[in-house]
Amino acid sequence: MDTYRKLLLANQAWVQDKLSVDADFFNKQANTQQPDFMWIGCSDSRVPAEDVTGTEPGELFVHRNIANLVIHTDLNMLSVLQYAVEVLKVKHVIVCGHYNCGGVKNAMTRHDFGLINKWLRHIKDVYRMHHRELEAIADGQARYDRLVELNVTEQVQNLAQTSIVQRAWKNEQRPIIHGWVYDLRTGYVKETACMEPGAKMDEIYDFDFDGTT
Ligand code: CO
Repeated sequence: MDTYRKLLLANQAWVQDKLSVDADFFNKQANTQQPDFMWIGCSDSRVPAEDVTGTEPGELFVHRNIANLVIHTDLNMLSVLQYAVEVLKVKHVIVCGHYNCGGVKNAMTRHDFGLINKWLRHIKDVYRMHHRELEAIADGQARYDRLVELNVTEQVQNLAQTSIVQRAWKNEQRPIIHGWVYDLRTGYVKETACMEPGAKMDEIYDFDFDGTT
């Protein structure tokens, strides 16, 4: 059997499983969604958003890319963010990175990867911003782990610097932005950063929506 066919068979079993618990499951799903959470995670196959958080369909609004980056010119990410914040009115936005992230690892090298260099460049920028701290860490794995954490923290700040988030903070006192790191070695997630509505940031990034300054 082609290996991909097992996915279709698993889908049939999943449908039966859901219906056995709640015969109305799919009817309830079909018309609307009201997720409380937006998830920005890595594309890595080992970090499935719903599995690691024990969430069901309808609970997470998901965007994934290599190394869970929030790039302020990325129309894809920004469109997902705008819809999540302004239409779905999510209460939390979670950036979830993970240790042993290939994107972060490759960004730490001088290797030429072609097109993807342009994406990894953003992680190199994070490295440069924190190079003193990182280069003081002698152990290679520990330095790699720390860059994963710093990368998540920078993406949390990148979210806070968007007018989408700042407008929602001002008008509706949400969402809370969380930075998480998932540990492939244990399965556990830890929170490494958090920004609540009204959190302070460098003034140059803080939009003046009233035009008073
Ligand atoms: Co990754």
